[in-house]
Amino acid sequence: MKVFELIFLFVCIFKSIGSYDILAIFPHEGRSHHNVFAPVIRRLASGGHNMTVIGYYSFKVENKHFREIILEDTMKQGEYFFDLKSFVDVPWSISQAMIPFVLTDLGVRSCQVMLSNSKIQNLLKQNIKFDLILAEFFNSECIHIFKDQFDVPLVGISASTIMPWHNDRFGNPDNPSYIPNNHLWHEMKMNFFERVENVLGLYWHNIFYWILTMKNQNKIESFSERRLRLNHAKISNTSLLLANSHFSLTYPRPLVPGVIEVGGIHIEDKKMLPWIHAANNVFFEVTASDIECIISEILFYNPTMGVGFYDPWVLVLRVRFLQIIIFDLI
Ligand SMILES: *[C@@H]1O[C@H](CO)[C@@H](O)[C@H](O)[C@H]1NC(C)=O
Ligand SMILES: *[C@@H]1O[C@H](CO)[C@@H](O)[C@H](O)[C@H]1NC(C)=O
Repeated sequence: MKVFELIFLFVCIFKSIGSYDILAIFPHEGRSHHNVFAPVIRRLASGGHNMTVIGYYSFKVENKHFREIILEDTMKQGEYFFDLKSFVDVPWSISQAMIPFVLTDLGVRSCQVMLSNSKIQNLLKQNIKFDLILAEFFNSECIHIFKDQFDVPLVGISASTIMPWHNDRFGNPDNPSYIPNNHLWHEMKMNFFERVENVLGLYWHNIFYWILTMKNQNKIESFSERRLRLNHAKISNTSLLLANSHFSLTYPRPLVPGVIEVGGIHIEDKKMLPWIHAANNVFFEVTASDIECIISEILFYNPTMGVGFYDPWVLVLRVRFLQIIIFDLI
């Protein structure tokens, strides 16, 4: 009996120390997206998983179980791969309507850069056994070429809140009467006109994303000489979506078990916020430079991005934060 128990114990121990062969694919070039994924990839690598990672920036992992294929956009002109100015110089409603066109266009380009890379073509020819594909879910569907080839479960990770075209494949509710479309900047409490806009925006973004994605299929197939053949059953065969959102920062919404909010996952070194608990109020301590930074964001100016553009959610949060501070202080 003792021998049987011992064998059972060993089986349990070995099962829990096993590592996985993971293929991680990040076809989009945005640096800010990379910053969200990097800590996740580094954590998986330090956990002992055997990783093959495709992306534009190095994840800086020194580990014999870690290989990366760095992509290079040879079609890029200048320092920026995409000029946000073309987006902010047009009226707001037009720029919102342009989103599916701009994003799918960028998506085709990222698929072209990735699939025409000789290292990627080599990888696709090899008969490697992966256990899992982890891929960015953003503006393209060419990751399904990898899923078809390696025939393993797919886990998506998004650098932003859930894109409107990703809910359907998980059966995730996205009722536009109270769930704001993440491109339209509305809050959860919308008035009648905002709700109408939210409904139209949701359909506009979804319909055009799919029309353009299907239209671009042949182009994407030509980059890799592999069939993509997207259909609903195929794209719905996704195990999980890790979304970079959190109800405390955005808004509470119903989620199916296959969609998990992981907002904050990119923070590697957690620091405690300094706080003073006085009577019924909780104050965060802010310094002059914090206020300066908040004000400069309110003025829609971010020197690092080179154009007058700022993530609206961060802006809304900062304004609220400033309001809390001011109202609590007076
Ligand atoms: C890690 O994955 C690569 C292919 O991606 C494979 O060649 C290698 O044998 C794997 N190593 C281990 C220890 O599983
Ligand atoms: C879903 O994906 C798994 C893993 O690639 C595959 O084995 C299965 O056949 C797929 N199911 C459908 C319905 O395509």
